[in-house]
Amino acid sequence: MRFFSSLTLAGLASLVTTSVLAQAPFFGAPQSLAQVTVGEDVLVSVFQGASNSQFEDVAIALGISQCFTGADSCSGPGGGLVDVFYAGPFNATFVGTNRFQNFTVTIPSFYEPGQFAQVTAALFTLVGAEATPNLDTIAIVLQVI
Ligand SMILES: *[C@@H]1O[C@H](CO)[C@@H](O)[C@H](O)[C@H]1NC(C)=O
Ligand SMILES: *[C@@H]1O[C@H](CO)[C@@H](O)[C@H](O)[C@H]1NC(C)=O
Repeated sequence: MRFFSSLTLAGLASLVTTSVLAQAPFFGAPQSLAQVTVGEDVLVSVFQGASNSQFEDVAIALGISQCFTGADSCSGPGGGLVDVFYAGPFNATFVGTNRFQNFTVTIPSFYEPGQFAQVTAALFTLVGAEATPNLDTIAIVLQVI
């Protein structure tokens, strides 16, 4: 009896971990490798996926950076945000069980056609009954034409 109840507890603990991972944020817009022009205002829509655990959205920071030698030279989500275009509350709107917020980034005037650009978002949330701090960083690559 005792053995089975500790197995059940272990099972529950792994379920909770899975649901925390399953709520990673993603970009609803723009699409990966979307073509953008210098000076263009680009809609950046950040979604926080459905979660069956408790959460509290705290803050988000977004930046844009230049990739000088092709898409492969973009830093990915582990790099810096570089030109920060928003840092503040994540005030998401619910759509069904997803929640999202729109932002706008202007493609900097010094970017050059043929280059790639990366948009990076870092979202800070408190997850679960214990309000565990969680930072998710995601990145998307755009093509400057
Ligand atoms: C958050 O979003 C709601 C609904 O879109 C809006 O009414 C409210 O002013 C926003 N708050 C902040 C701090 O941006
Ligand atoms: C976010 O942008 C999309 C596309 O323009 C629009 O359909 C949606 O209503 C916007 N949502 C909010 C909350 O501003």
